[in-house]
Order: sequence, then structure tokens, then C-alpha cells
Amino acid sequence: MNFYVMTLFPEMIDQGLNNSIMGRAIDKGLIQLDAVNIRDYSNDLRHKKVDDYTYGGGAGMLMQAQPIYDCYKAIEKKIEESHSDKKKPRVVYVTPQGRVFNQQMARDFAKEEDLVFLCGHYEGVDERVLEEIVTDYVSIGDYVLTGGELPAMVMIDCISRLVKGVLNNDVSSETESFNDGLLEYPQYSRPEEWMGRKVPPILLSGNHKKVDEWRLEKAIERTKERRPDMYEEWIKLHPVKPPKKRRRKHHADENGDKNGNN
Ligand code: ADE
Repeated sequence: MNFYVMTLFPEMIDQGLNNSIMGRAIDKGLIQLDAVNIRDYSNDLRHKKVDDYTYGGGAGMLMQAQPIYDCYKAIEKKIEESHSDKKKPRVVYVTPQGRVFNQQMARDFAKEEDLVFLCGHYEGVDERVLEEIVTDYVSIGDYVLTGGELPAMVMIDCISRLVKGVLNNDVSSETESFNDGLLEYPQYSRPEEWMGRKVPPILLSGNHKKVDEWRLEKAIERTKERRPDMYEEWIKLHPVKPPKKRRRKHHADENGDKNGNN
């Protein structure tokens, strides 16, 4: 999967994502990361200016349309040259004014071969270039950061771990928090006892069926306690079955009708 990030701070993207699992995925060629400096596309050759005052007044500067558009066109050309199909890439503008990113959106983006991110700065971006190139407006939450680089990195990290081969074992991307709408169950490693706290004995039993049941129970409990909003959604799709009624013989002195119905 190929990520292109349009930014004024490419070194932030390179340094932030070239470590650990992401770094390995890049080395293996599973992920390609290209942080492109918008400033390189400024028509102002002397000062490389990319921002200007806002029409109508107001505090702060706005990123201008031209450098962003030219930066995008260079990326588009690169993508066209590297594939035979002429499909335009999705272009994600990271902004607090977008839809809030979640695991389902990550799964959807992970299906793309190429993804382009636009990171804003200052007071925002000239609306006209957004109208021209952006396909998705995405936020990472209802709070405002100083720029789009951190949100873009958050999304790229999250999407990348869904790309086949990026995680060492594919099971961990399936059983993790948010899959199936539940938080993950608690986990334990050695030693069996630490600071007087013991690993739950069921996990040492070797009984996989019982372990799975225990984990599901804990995942439900944890979700109910920590994320009641998620629990409400989950329970709608997984109504708890009432315990089976035991069949009882009819006795004349029991409450109920003569057919044995209580
Ligand atoms: N830029 C600034 N704040 C942001 C946020 N919360 N999400 C995405 N982009 C942003």
C-alpha cells in the first residue's frame, strides 16, 4: 500500500512513522511512505511562501491553493506512472471538521492501493483547492491540534496494521479491541504471580473452550464498564439468550394451567 502525505513538515512524518512495526513494513516493501513537501511547489521562488491573509478578514494565515494543487498533481502523475489503471486516488484532508475516524473507516481505507493525505496548518486551507482534490474529510476526534501531521500519522498507522503481512500474526488484528464491537479481554504473561496478583487459573487450565468463554465474558464486562456506548450497540446485535427452561412434570398443586404452562 502506498501512502503520500502532502505536508509542510515531511521530516515529522518520516521520523514519526519509520520505527518499530511501521519501519519494518516499509523496509519489507509492504508499505511505501512518501512525505511530500508542499513548499517545494510554491511559485514564490525567493521565499517559498505557501500562506497568505484571509479574504474578508480574520486572524491568522491560510494555506494557498496553488502549491497544494501542484503538489497533488505531481503525486497523481507519480501514481499514474506506477500503475496501468487510471483510477484517481482518494485524497484525505485531515481536519477537525471531518467525519471522526474509526476502525471501520480504517478497514475501508486499507482496501485502497494508494492513499493521499493533506495536512493543514495555520488557520486552514483555501476552500477552492479542497473542492478540487479532496474526496474524504476526516478528523481524529473532537479536539483541535496545531496541524494535520499527527492525525495523518495516527490514521496511517492504524490503516497499515490491517495490510496483510504488516503484523507478524494476522490473528492479532482480528481479536483486538473494536473487532466485533467489543474491547479486548485482559491478558497476562509470566510470571504466574506478580506483586501478589495471580494469573486467573482458567488461563492455565489448557481448556481452550473454557478460555474462550472466559475471554468473551471479560470482553463483555470490560466494554460494559468502560465503553457503555459500545456495549449498547453490541448488545443490540447479540441479545443475551434467556437460560433454557427445564421441563417439569405437571403437578396439580403447582401454579400454572393444566397444560403445564407457567
Ligand atoms: N487538525 C487539527 N485538529 C485535527 C483533528 N482533531 N483531526 C484531524 N485533523 C486535525
